Amino acid sequence: KKIVLFASGSGSNVENIIHFFKGNPEVSIKCVLSNNKEAKVFERCNRLEVSALYFNRHSFYQSDCILELLKSLNPDLIVLAGFLWKIPDNLIQNFPDKIVNIHPALLPKYGGKGMYGMHVHKSVKENNEPETGITIHFVNENYDEGAIIAQKKVTLELGDTPETIAEKVHQLEYEYFPKVIQQVLMGQ
Ligand code: GRF
Repeated sequence: KKIVLFASGSGSNVENIIHFFKGNPEVSIKCVLSNNKEAKVFERCNRLEVSALYFNRHSFYQSDCILELLKSLNPDLIVLAGFLWKIPDNLIQNFPDKIVNIHPALLPKYGGKGMYGMHVHKSVKENNEPETGITIHFVNENYDEGAIIAQKKVTLELGDTPETIAEKVHQLEYEYFPKVIQQVLMGQ
C-alpha cells in the first residue's frame, strides 16, 4: 500500500505517520509534498530519509505537474496532514475517496477556509465549548465537507487557553491519525 503525504507547515503529523508505518512492510510512504519551501516538514523528511518535494501555485493549479506525479506514483491514499491549500477538482476526480484530511475540530462546526491553526482553537475557546477534537474526513470539492471517517473528542476545562487546547488536539492527532489511515488503507 502506498501513501503520499501533503503538508504546509511544521509537519509533526507527517513525522508521526512516518514513524508509525516505518516497521510496516505492507505500507510505504512514497513521498511528502509541500507548498511551503520554508516548512519545517522538509527538515523532518531529510532526517527521516523520506523524499520530499516543494511545489508552487503554478505547479498545483496551472499545470498538471502534481497530478501527473501522483498518477505515476499511483498512491492508495493521499493524506493531507496540515495542508492549507484547496485541492483542485481534477485531482479529486482522479483520486475519488482516496484523499483524506485531518481537521483540528469537530466538523461541521469550526470548519471552512479560514479555520486552521490557532484560529480554530481561539473560536472554540471564545464559544466556551465543553469539548473539541479532531475530524478525519475524505476530501471533496468543498472545504472540510467530505464524508467523515472518524472523530475523536477531548473535554475542555475553564482554564484552557487556545494553546492548551491546541496541545490536547495535537495529542489526539498523534494517537489516532495513523490508526485511522491504516484502517482506511486496509479497508480499501
Ligand atoms: C494540525 O493541527 C492539523 O489538524 C491541521 O494542521 C495542523 C498540522 O500540524 N490540519 P503539523 O504541521 O502536523 O504539526
